[in-house]
Amino acid sequence: MTVQRWDADLYDSRHDFVASLGGGLLDLLAAAPGERVLDAGCGTGDLTAALAEAGAEVVGVDASAEMVARGRARFPHLDLRVGDLRDPGSVGTGFDAVLSNAVLHWIPDADAAAATLAGALRPGGRLVAELGGRGNVAVIDRGARGLRAALGLPDAPDPWYFPGIADYAAVLERAGLEVTSARLFDRPTRLTGDDGLAAWVRMFGGHLLTGVTDPDTFLADLAVRLRPELHRDGSWWADYRRLRITAVRP
Ligand code: BEZ
Repeated sequence: MTVQRWDADLYDSRHDFVASLGGGLLDLLAAAPGERVLDAGCGTGDLTAALAEAGAEVVGVDASAEMVARGRARFPHLDLRVGDLRDPGSVGTGFDAVLSNAVLHWIPDADAAAATLAGALRPGGRLVAELGGRGNVAVIDRGARGLRAALGLPDAPDPWYFPGIADYAAVLERAGLEVTSARLFDRPTRLTGDDGLAAWVRMFGGHLLTGVTDPDTFLADLAVRLRPELHRDGSWWADYRRLRITAVRP
């Protein structure tokens, strides 16, 4: 798995939509006061804090020490831990519910992550997860790879896993969960600033810049290529597609 390094300041200042758009997951989870909830891939802690606010006893786990450090600074009262979602020992057991927003697409070993999440739940516990679904950011990905090819650069690695409904339902079922709902939907996401596309690629698509000697020029050329498809109403829009899925542990 590619090791993704995160700039937690940039994440919070330019990409806070990750947490705010994930807010609908909280309604779906409907955590009751006193429930033990795992926020799997907690980032800098926004949704963990919202769960705690709702009265849940919440543990947040994230693979990035930078994100967890930032989350602890923002929310000193929260239990935020560095951990690998492929490792059941990182997260603990006996949770009433698991929430996961915008992280599972960074873990190509989906079976290992699903086994960890299933193992974290008590029998009867529920999972609410959202990740990039099949076709997510395909315009950005295709545009960057096309530009690389035009410049004579080799194809870039692909650290992302964007499954369809059937694929991911099968993953969860193999982990012993029962899938209760799944939806794949477009959710174009506004990127702030004139350099919104470039900032997004720098933050999340660093692999697309592998071997690029002049990233500023590359990103300027990419913006020219993608403007007709992704710039409208005065803003850049990332072509997000979400897979939102719920399951229970029998
Ligand atoms: C997403 O949330 O869909 C996503 C974020 C960063 C990179 C790729 C996908």
